Amino acid sequence: MAEHEKWDVVSGVGRTALWVAVARALETRSESGLIDDPHAEVLARAAQPTGALTSVLDAQPEDETTRQLWQVMALHLGIRTRFFDEYFRTATSSGEVEQAVILAAGLDSRAWRLEWPQDFTLFEIDQPEVLDFKRRALAGEGAHLRCEHVAVRADLRDDWASALLAAGFDPQKPTAWLVEGLLPYLPAEAEEELFQVITRLSAPGSQVALEHSVSANFGQAMDDPRFEHVSQDWGVDMNQLVHQDERTPAITRLRDHGWQVDRDENGTTTAAEYGRQADGHSAMHLEHVRYATVRRN
Ligand SMILES: C[S@@+](CC[C@H](N)C(=O)[O-])C[C@H]1O[C@@H](n2cnc3c(N)ncnc32)[C@H](O)[C@@H]1O
Repeated sequence: MAEHEKWDVVSGVGRTALWVAVARALETRSESGLIDDPHAEVLARAAQPTGALTSVLDAQPEDETTRQLWQVMALHLGIRTRFFDEYFRTATSSGEVEQAVILAAGLDSRAWRLEWPQDFTLFEIDQPEVLDFKRRALAGEGAHLRCEHVAVRADLRDDWASALLAAGFDPQKPTAWLVEGLLPYLPAEAEEELFQVITRLSAPGSQVALEHSVSANFGQAMDDPRFEHVSQDWGVDMNQLVHQDERTPAITRLRDHGWQVDRDENGTTTAAEYGRQADGHSAMHLEHVRYATVRRN
């Protein structure tokens, strides 16, 4: 198999982890913010982003289009982060799961931010440079881990299952899996393999939470002129980062593998549940994403 390219948080698809951190920092700061993630800004600044991104963090976006885009991003990431925070809180407080795996963890700070049961193990999978940067930056700020955190440095297009098992993951224990902000960046066959592997490694009682959308819809979201503006501004072609090949909707695939769907709703519905009304700009974006949880008895 050909060696895949590698990236950190300021290159390749790793940049998307940095954008998510910036959006979480903005939402954390906002008066009506849906989340409290103080580590997001620490991580975003530690990455020493470009001038344009620093201006966003400094609340001085370079123009109105950029301001609008980040307003949408902050709402999107606020909703998404809160939905999956609640997923982990419910799954762990009821004692239903004994370990968790965050796939493509990026700059997710839940291991440092949420309450976890005693001796709980949280595995995070992503590229080596992404995970190492995060641990270094948070340790440098004196942030404390609140669970047993295991960094699994692997490419999700390769044999990540072996890396996870070698890192101590126990397939006999019920697991809470998280697939957040990942699927558009995987080729269709890697996505198919991902759900096969999750199913194979899931003991009864396991759960999966995911953000998904059908690829055609994601393509439409990318046609948003504000994304084009950012692409030109930052020299990043979003269409190069995402895979828009046709694929079976993730929920259909999970059902086919025997998972039962607990929730599956679009971002506009989730926003309303949290008391936030998606307006014209954000509604267009949020209608393309869905938040779901499934379980296996
Ligand atoms: C949009 S970020 C989301 C990060 C995190 N889930 C969150 O919501 O904060 C996408 C992440 O997917 C990771 N990623 C994409 N393709 C990957 C692959 N083939 N193997 C490992 N990680 C991958 C990137 O490194 C990046 O951290």
